[in-house]
Amino acid sequence: MNTRHLIKPNDLSIEETNQLLELADRISLNPARYAHVCDGNLMATLFFEPSTRTRLSFESAMNRLGGRIVGFAGADSSSSTKGETISDTVKTVSNYVDIIAMRHPQAGSAEIASKASFVPLINAGDGDNQHPTQTLTDLLTIKNLKGSLENHVIGLCGDLKYGRTVHSLVKAMSNYEGIKFIFISPDELRMPDSIKDGLDKSMYEETDNLESVLGDLDVLYMTRVQRERFDDIDEYERLKDSYIINSEKIKYAKSDMIVMHPLPRVNEISTDLDDDDRAVYFKQTKFGMYMRMALIMMLLNKDINM
Ligand code: NCD
Repeated sequence: MNTRHLIKPNDLSIEETNQLLELADRISLNPARYAHVCDGNLMATLFFEPSTRTRLSFESAMNRLGGRIVGFAGADSSSSTKGETISDTVKTVSNYVDIIAMRHPQAGSAEIASKASFVPLINAGDGDNQHPTQTLTDLLTIKNLKGSLENHVIGLCGDLKYGRTVHSLVKAMSNYEGIKFIFISPDELRMPDSIKDGLDKSMYEETDNLESVLGDLDVLYMTRVQRERFDDIDEYERLKDSYIINSEKIKYAKSDMIVMHPLPRVNEISTDLDDDDRAVYFKQTKFGMYMRMALIMMLLNKDINM
């Protein structure tokens, strides 16, 4: 059987994505039932870039399935500092473990790594390119909190140029019926053409004005301006606070709109919003752990109907 990898959302068919959503729901209702599914399995988390949620949710997921973890959190402690290539690192590690989750600052690195890996490799974020497991998390969040993945107006706000989470989310959500995107960003941080080219023109609009569209949205997906991707730090300083949603502004939103964010937030969501029922970004983190449990099961060929 071919080794399955997850590099970008569309590596999964819609049917498989839906199976993962259902499995994640079942796991969340009865996690104890899955506590030994991965007994004896080993996962490597290779994080060449900082992470809190993605790495710890993968590690929590594998531990909760009964599996174990090895890995590193930071390129400094790996042989990449000695000049080792991604391919050589991954080829080596895939001799030790059953599955790998990797984050790397270089766009395209996950694809390169997957070609060298003998075991399933999951892209946990490659530069400004893709972040498919955040997207699976986001789909599970929207499905659970909005009732379905169809017929929503989704506002994506902030750094749409460098934000890998929004690139992946658009790719995945555009597979569902009745989805309309509103891309809200400063001119300098617009959604790349490579993402827009995959969409029918009727599926999106673009604006730099959050207030003008806030009342139309079912989902507001906020993003952090990605400081680490800027060559010009003055440009970052100028753009970093382009959008801030707070308890005052949200009065103009629908009463059942949800505010999502992959986190970490900087200033773009005021903490005074945290107690609003529409603020779901911390709930979103929990969905991420259940989704990663489901994904590990699928890629390790466990029984996903249990
Ligand atoms: C995101 C990422 O790493 O792309 N974080 C995450 O995985 N939850 C978003 C970000 O860092 O802004």
